[in-house]
Amino acid sequence: MGKKLFIETFGCQMNVLDSEVACATLKRIGYEVTPDLREADLVLLNTCAVREKASDKVFTRIGSLRNARKPGSLLGVMGCVAQGESGRILEGAPEVDLIIGTQSLHKLPDLIEQREKRGEPAVDVRMHNRASFNGISPAERKRQNVAFVTIMEGCDKFCTFCIVPFTRGRERSRSPWRILEEVIALHRAGYQEVQLLGQNVNSYGKGERLEDGTSLSFAGLLELLAKESGIPRIKYTTSHPADFGPSILSVMNRHESLCNWIHLPPQSGSDRILAAMNRGYTRDEYFRKVDQIRASHRDYSLTGDIIVGFPGESDEDFIATVDLVQYAQFDALYIFKYSARPGTVAAKRPDDIPEPVKLERLQELDRIHREIQRRRNERCVGKVYRILVEGRSAKKSDDLTGHTACNRVVNFPAPAGDWAGRLVDVRITEAYAHSLFGKIESVHDGEAKQGAPWT
Ligand code: 5AD
Ligand code: SF4
Repeated sequence: MGKKLFIETFGCQMNVLDSEVACATLKRIGYEVTPDLREADLVLLNTCAVREKASDKVFTRIGSLRNARKPGSLLGVMGCVAQGESGRILEGAPEVDLIIGTQSLHKLPDLIEQREKRGEPAVDVRMHNRASFNGISPAERKRQNVAFVTIMEGCDKFCTFCIVPFTRGRERSRSPWRILEEVIALHRAGYQEVQLLGQNVNSYGKGERLEDGTSLSFAGLLELLAKESGIPRIKYTTSHPADFGPSILSVMNRHESLCNWIHLPPQSGSDRILAAMNRGYTRDEYFRKVDQIRASHRDYSLTGDIIVGFPGESDEDFIATVDLVQYAQFDALYIFKYSARPGTVAAKRPDDIPEPVKLERLQELDRIHREIQRRRNERCVGKVYRILVEGRSAKKSDDLTGHTACNRVVNFPAPAGDWAGRLVDVRITEAYAHSLFGKIESVHDGEAKQGAPWT
């Protein structure tokens, strides 16, 4: 009988994709995925180290698994915490059998064998760099509606607060032809949307190239995919403001299938803090990017990330951030309290903003942004949006839920039948802070039609 795998994923879309790759790799050696922890022969925790809370969660989770796992089952830790803190895991959690670094997923079968033969934890946290892109066939993907495709990995920016350059290594890009092939295959398999992933997609093609291919910029890759893949919706994350500019915007302006959503995290609105963060742009430069986006004929939705309470952040610095948020009018904003990540440059400075001040700033900014987002959402009422249906709404099972091209969540009453993975046009009747509600107008299967609503 085949063995059973239980996998739990924390963190970003890159981790979601890595979990899919792990599942596909283990399927090849006879594992079957189970949602039931108690029957699993192998339990994998795919971890995130971006913020302190996320990495602490792993230790709490390992503890809570102690009595819940099947006796004799193996426990593996993968992802960024595995990569960055293997020593701490081995010391603090002796029950861990496998530690799989972010570039060692393809080694999973070997590591399991090694663990079983030697009877001691098997660890591989080397930075292989060249081996991290494994082939994964569409049939092995778990989600039916949106497929994630890694285009580049790693980051060379070294923002002073960020652990990613240490856990994901140097920038490297996949061959554009491989990416195109994969997107075409995904579309043939029924996917209507792909999300291109990279810690810093604008650096696509700049760093060490993983596979041979012509040298192509990120704008060039977007154009290639828009022209040749035939898939109706292409989204991507994450853009770095220093590298986002007119060439990307002009390709997006020309191709309907390049979705009108731009995630452009500013992190702060204060020049002093931006410099201390090593972000490589000023607030004014960020404003000019926003101006370019807003001046376009397409109605882009703009989303961002902000860190409050970075070391040395004064009241004036925070006010400058509030001002930036008001200027940018983000359609969604993710606000984080700064937490020192060991090994980063910022972690060497005193974490001098008291927790209550961090919390106060987070809440204040959230209050201001919520109002902006509610107003931005209200503009949608009465309009028709094309939605990729993801399934039943978690809150109300009579409703279906999905995203617009501009990445807003839309819920609407479900007609009979299976709708997941299909494109429908929905007229918006109500706007809330974080979602929209509407009614189906018409159904689209296959490609978006010319002249049809696509915002
Ligand atoms: N503390 C708080 N937030 C952080 N992020 C990254 N590192 C830290 C940190 N040390 C946030 C950034 C990034 C998002 C993914 O997580 O805003 O864009
Ligand atoms: Fe981290 Fe900065 Fe790279 Fe983004 S650009 S992954 S925040 S180092």
